[in-house]
Amino acid sequence: MRKGILTTYETLLPLTERTPRLSLCEGNTPLVSLKRLGRELGVDLYGKFDGLNPTGSFKDRGMVLAVSKAVEEGAKALICASTGNTSASAAAYGAVAGIPCYVLLPAGKVALGKLAQALIYGAKVIAVRGNFDSALEMARQASAERGLAMVNSVNPYRLYGQRSASWEICDELGAAPDWIVLPVGNAGNISAYCAGLEQYKELSRISRLPRLVGVQAEGAAPMVRGVFVDEPETVATAIRIGHPVSADKARRAVELTGGEFLAVSDDEILQAQKRLASQEGLFAEPASCAPLAGLVRLKEMGTLPKGIRVVLVLTGNGLKDPDAAVQTIARPIEIDSSWDALSEVLPL
Ligand code: F0G
Repeated sequence: MRKGILTTYETLLPLTERTPRLSLCEGNTPLVSLKRLGRELGVDLYGKFDGLNPTGSFKDRGMVLAVSKAVEEGAKALICASTGNTSASAAAYGAVAGIPCYVLLPAGKVALGKLAQALIYGAKVIAVRGNFDSALEMARQASAERGLAMVNSVNPYRLYGQRSASWEICDELGAAPDWIVLPVGNAGNISAYCAGLEQYKELSRISRLPRLVGVQAEGAAPMVRGVFVDEPETVATAIRIGHPVSADKARRAVELTGGEFLAVSDDEILQAQKRLASQEGLFAEPASCAPLAGLVRLKEMGTLPKGIRVVLVLTGNGLKDPDAAVQTIARPIEIDSSWDALSEVLPL
């Protein structure tokens, strides 16, 4: 039977005998060799397709641990703010645990698939007229004043569980890759990767740390600019964040590994999304395509070393946000209902 990450990584995670081993069989996602794009970019390229987790994003890795610990500690309800994926995951694991879940979303700025998920899993969904950063502040207050268990990445168990993706990559490759490239929003995941890799190095499961490269959208790039952004804006709504709570940890991750932060435009993100889908058969949501856009940018700038092994972290499934793909990239060809009309659009 397939295992979830609490069972697979039991000895590496902060579990006790009393921690319930919740599972939706999260983790163990495919590391796909991206041959065509790798050839074009001159590197040995892989995509860690975390969009194949149970709720369609990497958030499940941390949420399963955060919710299990919340149950262990006797929590009566969960709360989080989210750009969409965290709320979908919190709602699903809340359902598994049988405890109520409250989610605060920036009104009108969450991809429809993610909103549908939070609702169908039974969360109490509250749309806040404001952005993610203000919703997060409100969730923190609710947690402090009413004692709801906060399952955003300020909860240390979230980032602990998210380490598992870095372990899977190293286990599967038999060594650390040269680079790991990730999208950065609230800056938790890049921090979790760094912690996971440091833990693996201490255990001698890898001999060196890979270079961590964090990619942001130009309209929401506080890590690149070095100042918080009050009105973040990007088509990649998952990373539409101006005040990342894990900014300090993420900066340390990049410094420690000799990595860097860079920003790409919405246009570059959507081009990358199209390339990933049409050249490699992987449909990832816009935020998850920022890493490929970043790599393309580095190649154009002449700063991408040849022949290195690079893993792109594809954090979320493209099906969560079909509007982004359909509105900006592809249109169906509409024809009359006849063979003549069809024959005109087919190749000879
Ligand atoms: N990719 C996707 C698909 C995300 O949903 C997020 C964050 C990130 C990347 C960035 O990760 O925040 O750890 O730097 N989504 C959060 C949410 C904010 O609420 O779902 P990060």
